[in-house]
Amino acid sequence: MKEIKIESTFFVYDNLEALPKAIYLLMQKAVEARKKAYAPYSKFLVGAALLLDNGEIITGNNQENASYPSGLCAERTAIYYAGSQFPEAKVLKMALTAGSKNKVTNEPIPPCGACRQAIAEYEIKQELPIEIYFMGATGKVVKSNSLANLLPLIFDKSML
Ligand code: THU
Repeated sequence: MKEIKIESTFFVYDNLEALPKAIYLLMQKAVEARKKAYAPYSKFLVGAALLLDNGEIITGNNQENASYPSGLCAERTAIYYAGSQFPEAKVLKMALTAGSKNKVTNEPIPPCGACRQAIAEYEIKQELPIEIYFMGATGKVVKSNSLANLLPLIFDKSML
């Protein structure tokens, strides 16, 4: 039996103000998007802002539904919109913020597993890593240089 160890590296910024200016502005867009989320059931609001290599900034937020599984996360709302509107563009950076209306959410909140799989599809398609920054409603911001760090043993097209 052989053991496999997988290591990931993340970087932590103490707060929003510690971010490089361009990322700070991208995160502000994500915060604006979060505030417009449609989350009447979970009261958990998530915002995403994507910077594309054509200069476009795409934002999205979670959209819930009375039939719960029909809703969609912020990350997929945003990245599917980017993919549908700018199929040739590459996603360079992604800023994510999440906060509950019921409690303080100051710990960094990473994207869910389904969103990681969705983001991975585009990272692989564009053959360029996507930088991901995620935080709670405020507080520390975690940076990953690539989606791949967040999804070890990824399932991708090479397996089909
Ligand atoms: N949600 C997101 O938008 N992104 C995630 O990565 C995690 C969860 C949404 C889905 C649902 O509307 C609410 O947060 C609670 O799960």
